[in-house]
Amino acid sequence: MNKFGSTDSLKSNSVLIIGASRGIGKALAFEFAKNGWDLFLASRDIENLKTIKSEIESKYSVDCIITVLDVTSDKDYELVFSKIRNQNHNLDLIILNSGISKPINLSEIDENIIRQIFETNFFGIVRGMKFAVDYFKIIGKGHIATVSSLADARGFPGSSAYVASKTAISHFTEAASIELRKSNINVTLIKPGFVITDMTANHKFTMPFLISAEKSAKIIYSGIKKGKKQIYFPLPTAIGSYLIKILPGFIFRYLTKFWKGENG
Ligand SMILES: NC(=O)c1ccc[n+]([C@@H]2O[C@H](COP(=O)([O-])OP(=O)(O)OC[C@H]3O[C@@H](n4cnc5c(N)ncnc54)[C@H](OP(=O)(O)O)[C@@H]3O)[C@@H](O)[C@H]2O)c1
Repeated sequence: MNKFGSTDSLKSNSVLIIGASRGIGKALAFEFAKNGWDLFLASRDIENLKTIKSEIESKYSVDCIITVLDVTSDKDYELVFSKIRNQNHNLDLIILNSGISKPINLSEIDENIIRQIFETNFFGIVRGMKFAVDYFKIIGKGHIATVSSLADARGFPGSSAYVASKTAISHFTEAASIELRKSNINVTLIKPGFVITDMTANHKFTMPFLISAEKSAKIIYSGIKKGKKQIYFPLPTAIGSYLIKILPGFIFRYLTKFWKGENG
C-alpha cells in the first residue's frame, strides 16, 4: 500500500511536466513518452494539451493525463496535486518548465509587466516547488527540476525582467538542491541556451548556437536520467555564458555598446 492508501502500482516511471503545451515542455513530453514514462501534463492551454495527449497515446503505450494549470494560481496547484493524490499517481519527477518573456523598455517602466514576469518565472516555480516538496516528503523521495536559462549570467539589456527572474530562480533552485538533500529530494537546475520555440520566434537579434526543442528535450532527458544537479546546453553557449558572467563590469558594459536597442 502506498502512502496515499492505494495498492495500485504504476507500470513505469511517471513525470509531471508543468508548461507542457508548447516548445521545450511539449518536446519533453514526447521524449519521456518515447522512453516509456507515464505523463501528467499541465498548462493553461487545454486544447494544445488535448492534441499532444492524442498524438502521444497514438504513438506510445503510455498513460497521458492532462490538466489545466496556471502557475500564478495557488488554487490551480492545489487542484492538480489533489487530483494526482486521488488518482494515485506515484510521481517520480516534477519538471517546472513554464516561463514567459516580454520585451522591457527601461525608459518607460511598466511595473505590471515586470510583476507578471516574476509571478510566472519566479513565484510560479516557487509555488510549484512548494507543492512538489510537500508531495515528495509524503512519499519519502523524489526529483524536482526547474527550467531557468543561461541568460541568468548578466543584466542583458532589453531583457532586464526576464534575466532577473531567471537569475532569481537559478539561485533559488541551487539553494533548494542543497537544503532538500536531507529530505531525499533530488533537485536539478536546467539552463538552456537559445532554443527554437514561440518564445524566441520574435527575437530580432542573432541567436548563436540555436537548437531545436526536440534536441533540447533529449539533452534534458539524458541529464535527468544521470541524476545531474545542473544541465546546461548547448556547450558553446554555456561556455560563453560563463565567460560573460566572470567579465569585469566595465568590459561587459563596453561590449554592450554594440547593442542596438532591440528588445528580445
Ligand atoms: N526558448 C529558449 O530559447 C529558452 C532559453 C532558455 C530558457 N528557456 C525557458 O524554457 C522554458 C520553456 O520555454 P519555451 O521556449 O518552450 O517557451 P514557449 O514555447 O513559449 O512555452 C512556454 C510554456 O510555458 C507555459 N506557461 C507560460 N505561462 C504559464 C502559466 N502562467 N501557467 C502555466 N504554464 C505557463 C506555456 O503554456 P500555456 O501558455 O499553455 O500556459 C508553455 O507551455 C521557459 O521557462 C523559458 O524561460 C527557453
